[in-house]
Amino acid sequence: MVTVRAPATSANLGSGFDVFGAALTRPADVVTVEKASETTIEVTGVGAQYIPEDPEKNTVGAVVEALDAPARIHIDKGVRPASGLGSSAASAAGAAVALNRLYDRGLSRSELVPIAAEGEAVVSGVAHSDNVAPSILGGFTVTTSEGTHAVDAAIPLVVCLPDVAVSTRDARRVVPETASMDDLVETVGNAATLAVGMCRSDPGLVGAGMSDPVVTPERARLITGYDDVRAAAFDAGAAGVTVSGAGPAILAVCRDERRRGVAAAMLDAFSEAGIDARAYQTRIGKGTTVL
Ligand code: HSE
Repeated sequence: MVTVRAPATSANLGSGFDVFGAALTRPADVVTVEKASETTIEVTGVGAQYIPEDPEKNTVGAVVEALDAPARIHIDKGVRPASGLGSSAASAAGAAVALNRLYDRGLSRSELVPIAAEGEAVVSGVAHSDNVAPSILGGFTVTTSEGTHAVDAAIPLVVCLPDVAVSTRDARRVVPETASMDDLVETVGNAATLAVGMCRSDPGLVGAGMSDPVVTPERARLITGYDDVRAAAFDAGAAGVTVSGAGPAILAVCRDERRRGVAAAMLDAFSEAGIDARAYQTRIGKGTTVL
């Protein structure tokens, strides 16, 4: 039997749409696998009632197929589905690492990324790696068609998750098909600034580089209260605020001593918009760990 803890992740980080990702220290899924002749999946925890246990429909089924690793699988969800925190990716990443260990497949962490991404495709329609890569590798990740680069970064974060769901499929429908040259130049500059900030573990630079004029404004419209929550986070000392992944979670970067105030301000702003929410004071952390 193998049990792993697979972290939530935040993709895009604003300027790095479909490229940047980061592993969060919390929340996380816990995945346990045992050898079996036929695969069965049991899901418990946050939002378990929305997750199919049929291996054909669960994110983990494709991972089992790819590794030829039938197993009795238990997924204890800490990462709420449809949150923008890489919920399906955490389960897929956890299963990939756990089954690789259970069956001694000998694949490296990097080799497991595309396998876990196949699981992602089952639920989101596209095999993105920008959530599974940080959930497996940890740290700040840059994923392109050539592969993934991961670096450790000491960056404090606040994630505020409203009690509403946004599906990745819906959030991809509002992504513009084109961008102007001015927006392209601005986005490249911001993304480069953010990457430098990560390498220097500098929350100010990371926050400054999160700004994205193309995708985030369209997705923000799907999140009631977004503008007020964003403004409240900045007022409380956040250095940058953006939509986490496809939303509705909102991600803020700040200095350690500001996290508590930023979290409280974001919760208050959602509350004033009539929406229940919860906040995680977190930071960029490790990838999937074997327990
Ligand atoms: N990069 C993807 C998106 C991640 O934002 O649509 C989805 O979790």
